[in-house]
Amino acid sequence: MQILLTGAAGFIGSSLTARLLARGDEVLGLDNFDETLYPPAQKERNLASLAGRPGFRFLRGDFLDEKVAEELVSARPDAVVHLGALAGVRPSLEQPKRYQKVNIEGTLNLLEACRAHGVGRFLFASSSSVYGAHSRVPFHEDDPAARPASPYAATKRAGELLCSNYSDLYPIVTSCLRFFTVYGPRQRPEMAIHKFTRLIDAGLPVPLFGDGSTARDYTFIEDILDGVVAAIDETAARKSGERCRIFNLGGSRTTTLKRLVELIEAALGKRALLDWQPDQPGDVPITYADVTRAGAELGYSPRVGIEEGIARFVSWYRDQKAEKEDAPW
Ligand SMILES: NC(=O)c1ccc[n+]([C@@H]2O[C@H](COP(=O)([O-])OP(=O)(O)OC[C@H]3O[C@@H](n4cnc5c(N)ncnc54)[C@H](O)[C@@H]3O)[C@@H](O)[C@H]2O)c1
Repeated sequence: MQILLTGAAGFIGSSLTARLLARGDEVLGLDNFDETLYPPAQKERNLASLAGRPGFRFLRGDFLDEKVAEELVSARPDAVVHLGALAGVRPSLEQPKRYQKVNIEGTLNLLEACRAHGVGRFLFASSSSVYGAHSRVPFHEDDPAARPASPYAATKRAGELLCSNYSDLYPIVTSCLRFFTVYGPRQRPEMAIHKFTRLIDAGLPVPLFGDGSTARDYTFIEDILDGVVAAIDETAARKSGERCRIFNLGGSRTTTLKRLVELIEAALGKRALLDWQPDQPGDVPITYADVTRAGAELGYSPRVGIEEGIARFVSWYRDQKAEKEDAPW
């Protein structure tokens, strides 16, 4: 398959590119090395590991630029996998307009280009955050998701609605993949697991919000890649039923913040200095995926538990730290 992948230099995008190339797909990657969340040097490193791989082409560009979106989609890939976005809940409270522009307008640009050029398969990276603070657990795709708790979450829900809209109006089959906190090698450095690991390793205080009882459904990167690849195939083959489908992709197990810190401490062999802080606006008390639908329709079955996943993440963290002792974060 020929796949146009946005966000290809990012954490999930670069990992997905490697997986797709390994199975013989062609990937045209797009990324603008956005600096909002973390330094582009990490993205350069992610891409360096893909350079020269057969079937891979990369364009540095911005999907907000209609000409860029048009030009890429006019090559008529078999599917567009839209991972490019401004991610992260907390920074979206500081810059809601930028999040709105990149995540909603950017998604619309790509859907419009698909409509104009007859590209009929579109996958969108959504988020568990769309469920907000008031959904019952575990979260199911048919829950209303009508009250997202942050601007970021609202942009992701809006992206899903645009996918649904384009599937209703035009011959475009869409899938919205609700990722639940993804971690593993190359994880974004500002995300909790990566940040806690770095701080504990350096003997610095770890800011923890709330009382440690908040819980997250953590998903190891390889499980997410299994789910995304299966969703690409399912979306390509879908001929009947709803043209827009939503799938939860989670680990389907929860871990409290307190337990997460203990696991990182154990993997590093170091104790954390805890700096307790009040709850953060926009954060939700729990995320927990019901993955029955993804299991039935995509054959999705998460395999890496948090204990093994943290150990594998810390091992990667140590390796890359040794490679770049003077990194800026
Ligand atoms: N990592 C998670 O836990 C998680 C959870 C839920 C949803 N998601 C979603 O999955 C996707 C990938 O997340 P990630 O963790 O790999 O984040 P990431 O920040 O590492 O990757 C996103 C990439 O998109 C690129 N990008 C941003 N704006 C762009 C633009 N205008 N044009 C071109 N490229 C642009 C960025 O430079 C970045 O490399 C995002 O859509 C995110 O919202 C991630």
